[in-house]
Amino acid sequence: MGASKISTSLIFLSCLLLASSVTTAAFNITAILGDIPSFSNFNDLLSKAGLVKAINSQSPVTILAIPNEHIGDLAGKPADVIKITLMTHVVLDYYDLLKLANAKNGTRMTTLFQKTGVATYDQGFLILNRSHGQLIFSSAAKGAPHNVQVVATVTQHPFNYSIISVSSAIMTPGVDGTSLQEPPKAAGAPAPAKKVSPPPASEAPEAPTPSDDATAPSPDAPSDAPKSDAPASQAPAADADDDKNKNASFKHLASSTLGLVAVLASFLAAY
Ligand SMILES: *[C@@H]1O[C@H](CO)[C@@H](O)[C@H](O)[C@H]1NC(C)=O
Ligand SMILES: *[C@@H]1O[C@H](CO)[C@@H](O)[C@H](O)[C@H]1NC(C)=O
Ligand SMILES: *[C@@H]1O[C@H](CO)[C@@H](O)[C@H](O)[C@H]1NC(C)=O
Ligand SMILES: *[C@@H]1O[C@H](CO)[C@@H](O)[C@H](O)[C@H]1NC(C)=O
Ligand SMILES: *[C@@H]1O[C@H](CO)[C@@H](O)[C@H](O)[C@H]1NC(C)=O
Repeated sequence: MGASKISTSLIFLSCLLLASSVTTAAFNITAILGDIPSFSNFNDLLSKAGLVKAINSQSPVTILAIPNEHIGDLAGKPADVIKITLMTHVVLDYYDLLKLANAKNGTRMTTLFQKTGVATYDQGFLILNRSHGQLIFSSAAKGAPHNVQVVATVTQHPFNYSIISVSSAIMTPGVDGTSLQEPPKAAGAPAPAKKVSPPPASEAPEAPTPSDDATAPSPDAPSDAPKSDAPASQAPAADADDDKNKNASFKHLASSTLGLVAVLASFLAAY
């Protein structure tokens, strides 16, 4: 068999391998959450709000995901409230549990909502606080409730993306018809208040589609949420999900590689 033919097949093979590994590496929030049934409602809401493209193209990014059993309250709200709230669950930086545990009390994080330019005062930022060994997220806007706990790692890919589960939706003052108060005067405070309006939609938000599970009442308070004082205490369930994802992508890679070996074998057999 001719050397040039072998090198042609090798070039062909490497192109395919390259294409295959690029496909495997691309971040697709819909596909990752699609493998985890307990986040199906959150995943649906991201799609309906038209946020998938914006999230997938963000790197680094951290998504604070709300499990089905604690998303009922948010899912019942108007589409623009859902969209803004989901945007505040997308942090424009990489944080895994270890980095959160080492973050300073009061660490401020910029969210996707800030990027729209329509956030008022501190609505586009989150604050991480530590209290009684728990990591607590809240909106940075004045008067925000401080009741959302960090629960566990869903998946992580340092230092590009991380998905962390939280105990419920982080609500932003002024978004859900609640009043937004002016923050205490500080140097470089933002311009006067303006009315909060839905962000300029690159993909128009769809009307919320009523669906059985999306409107399901949320059960009792998340008192059963696993404690998260140390990164070592990740919930076993989330670890299993994490493994499942890794295995799934490994299998994906393995099966495409097997396919390529078969292609190469048939090339060699032909000469
Ligand atoms: C992301 O994954 C979903 C579900 O697997 C799929 O329908 C969608 O086409 C993927 N998007 C991209 C950009 O690959
Ligand atoms: C969060 O931490 C910062 C910095 O220590 C502090 O100023 C702020 O009051 C804290 N907020 C809450 C609700 O504990
Ligand atoms: C974080 O700040 C809050 C409010 O100032 C305080 O109650 C809490 O004890 C602080 N936590 C740590 C670990 O310093
Ligand atoms: C991961 O992040 C690095 C640097 O932050 C960047 O160069 C790389 O393209 C990112 N990879 C993916 C798959 O987003
Ligand atoms: C993933 O694969 C590893 C070995 O590579 C195995 O130990 C583990 O049990 C697998 N996890 C799942 C969820 O299949």
